Amino acid sequence: MPLISPSILSADFARLGEEVRAVDEAGADWIHIDVMDGHFVPNITIGPAVVKALRPHTDKPFDVHLMISPVDAYLEQFADAGADIITVHPEAGPHVHRTVQTIKSLGKKAGVVFNPATPVDTLDYLIDMVDLVLVMSVNPGFGGQSFIDSQLKKVEAIRRRIDASCRDIYLEVDGGVDSRTAPLCIEAGADVLVAGSATFKGGPDRYADNIRTLRGDAA
Ligand code: DX5
Ligand code: ZN
Repeated sequence: MPLISPSILSADFARLGEEVRAVDEAGADWIHIDVMDGHFVPNITIGPAVVKALRPHTDKPFDVHLMISPVDAYLEQFADAGADIITVHPEAGPHVHRTVQTIKSLGKKAGVVFNPATPVDTLDYLIDMVDLVLVMSVNPGFGGQSFIDSQLKKVEAIRRRIDASCRDIYLEVDGGVDSRTAPLCIEAGADVLVAGSATFKGGPDRYADNIRTLRGDAA
């Protein structure tokens, strides 16, 4: 069964603490937190102070997706704020290997994320260190975009690399994951699905059903 990591980008920002508790109770495995700076991506979301404020609301791992550049100066703040997994784009700093080393030295799980047009060869030089690989199935910046089907081939290619590495590495997909595309991601080898709109649609009464549907175990 895939793990489900709801993206709180689609939550009600005026009630974020309650929303995090609601998806936790609805069966979320992780909480996906999209951090955007209006520079690396054309949108501004939340920073370490909000991550810290949300931390007491759940014990589920915080899966923090950093879309900020340059990223290195902020790693410690997100680690201190309560991030469990910190995922970075290779384009977000001059030395992604060093960035991953820093995340590991802070005692956190490290992820690397590939945009739709970013080739994955960089992974060959990081696969001995990372704990997670994230494939963007939309261009980063906004929730509610359409899934880019060509990314499924990338998921398959990364699955092969992870299996060959014999390391314990999560393979996560982010963007446009819904009841149609979730099974395709799983088939391609993903084991963690990020879902914003598909989790939060319909309001809190729907969260548990929405998460079950994404997992593929809907009644
Ligand atoms: C996009 C973010 C995603 C986004 C997913 O830049 O990284 O996590 O919130 O939203 P949906 O699931 O609505 O495509
Ligand atoms: Zn994300």
